[in-house]
Amino acid sequence: MTENTNKSMSNSDIKIGLPAVAFKEFLNNRRTVVISDHNLFRLYPDVFDGCDKIILPSGEDAKSLKTIEVIISEFVKLNLDRNSFIIGFGGGVICDITGFVASIFMRGLSFGFIASTLLAQIDAAIGGKNGVNFGNHKNYIGCFNNPEFVICDPILLKTLSDQEYKSGLGEVLKYALITNKTELFNYLNQNTESLLNRNQDILKFVINKCVKTKSDIVSVDLFDKGFRQILNFGHSFGHCIEKIENIPHGMAVVYGMKIALQISVKKGVLNPDRQNEILMLFAKFGFNQEIIMRDEHFKILEGDKKKNLDLIKLVIINDIGKTAFLELKIDEIKDLLK
Ligand SMILES: NC(=O)c1ccc[n+]([C@@H]2O[C@H](COP(=O)([O-])OP(=O)(O)OC[C@H]3O[C@@H](n4cnc5c(N)ncnc54)[C@H](O)[C@@H]3O)[C@@H](O)[C@H]2O)c1
Repeated sequence: MTENTNKSMSNSDIKIGLPAVAFKEFLNNRRTVVISDHNLFRLYPDVFDGCDKIILPSGEDAKSLKTIEVIISEFVKLNLDRNSFIIGFGGGVICDITGFVASIFMRGLSFGFIASTLLAQIDAAIGGKNGVNFGNHKNYIGCFNNPEFVICDPILLKTLSDQEYKSGLGEVLKYALITNKTELFNYLNQNTESLLNRNQDILKFVINKCVKTKSDIVSVDLFDKGFRQILNFGHSFGHCIEKIENIPHGMAVVYGMKIALQISVKKGVLNPDRQNEILMLFAKFGFNQEIIMRDEHFKILEGDKKKNLDLIKLVIINDIGKTAFLELKIDEIKDLLK
């Protein structure tokens, strides 16, 4: 493992607003390989100047052990040694793959991320979780290990598709509900249009807020034993929806949050007026549909790896910024959603 193992990143290691090419300032003459995908190589060729590169196909299917083998073969061909440095330039898929392969090759090389999607800048690149999928099992193989630095430049988000941008906004909405009292929630209400238009100043503020929120949560529970699980708000249902409806992660999380809100109200812990206020903000960001859980969704929920015996551990909210955990049997969840 690298020197960073088991340590939280300090907020100063997360560089918000620095251009992607600025990573070269942090290399200190180390031999560097950039791992990225075809889209980024086509859009931002300058970033790769002067470095070896490994260009992967884009998309979730690349997050596999097969890809790890391909990368390691390339590392061997390139004759890397323990002083070599690895950069992951891309969205969550590239960051997850890069962090994992860098952590296991020769027992660990140092690495850094240039996060290029909104979701990666506020979530996937922060918090030290790296890994790949195993067949249908998401993120089943991986490790906790932090990069030396993460660059989050909102300029990169200008070339992101509307759908991928909206996916990132889904996770932003989650941060507005799980902590921050009502500060981020109100800010999003007041700056919806500008954020939808990818205004750079507004994005910088929002990315900062989300990164700080995630770092604070992770610093309390680096290895995901308890408190960190509040980050899973909307995710138990979101994962089922993502798989069945085949929509991007952050969009599915919004539909998952809507179901968690419904359960929070049914359990009598969330005021229905508050629920409406939240649903109105979701709608302003274009999330006005609902997805009703069907048998096929519940089948996936039953296989949820956070399940403890027969119980599914859900994150619910009592109010904006106030989360709670609730353990329920599948049948109880079905009853509450009737
Ligand atoms: N490690 C963690 O803590 C963590 C947290 C959340 C999500 N994740 C993982 O993140 C992954 C999802 O990440 P994602 O939403 O960033 O999707 P992604 O990495 O698949 O990227 C989405 C698409 O956007 C393209 N793209 C990336 N940056 C671009 C840019 N600047 N301009 C144009 N196109 C660009 C990519 O080529 C890809 O086609 C999932 O695998 C999920 O499991 C990990």
